[in-house]
Amino acid sequence: MARVVVLISGRGSNLRALVEAALPVVAVVSNRPDAAGLGFAAERGIATAVVDHKAYADRDSFDTALANAVDAHAPDLVVLAGFMRVLTPGFVRRYAGRLMNVHPSLLPAFPGLDTHARALAAGSKLHGCSVHFVTEALDEGPIVAQAAVPVLDDDSPETLAARVLRQEHRLLPAAVRWFLEGRMAINGARVRVRDTVAHADDTLAEPAP
Ligand code: GRF
Repeated sequence: MARVVVLISGRGSNLRALVEAALPVVAVVSNRPDAAGLGFAAERGIATAVVDHKAYADRDSFDTALANAVDAHAPDLVVLAGFMRVLTPGFVRRYAGRLMNVHPSLLPAFPGLDTHARALAAGSKLHGCSVHFVTEALDEGPIVAQAAVPVLDDDSPETLAARVLRQEHRLLPAAVRWFLEGRMAINGARVRVRDTVAHADDTLAEPAP
């Protein structure tokens, strides 16, 4: 049975989407003791751990403690689902090729924070979310899948965020499933997913029937 460890910092709605898609989430690790997603995980009988970044003097010692908490669950895949800390190169290398993040923009547009407000300020007509493998450069790793949404004239950052979040909840479970099914090959910046069908007028590649 495959094993997925999910790292969170807050609400945990993407974590919930993974669990509700019946993916094998064996543990949830948060850098914040008050993350709401921890309560959800505990309710579902999933192991939880907190590695509070405020308790560590520097990023290296925090990331070492985080890696220990993750490794205790021997994951095949580690998913960053609203995990709001930048990880050290050592941590990223340790999980190379099995560390995925969901980011609320159509990368490479808008890496970093405040993506919805930035998309509005830039006048984007399309916005969305990306699932990508994590590399040492922030939000720059090979893109696994993306979903796009329209930007409407009366959108605020909040209404746009809500529209994007609905797509995150479809995209991340699909990407995790494809990984666990062994259908992904990383080739430089490009990720090939075997046996998926992307229609020209579709926003999200779907598994072949
Ligand atoms: C999501 O939009 C995620 O892409 C971003 O932070 C948000 C986390 O939401 N990095 P949740 O904790 O999964 O509800």
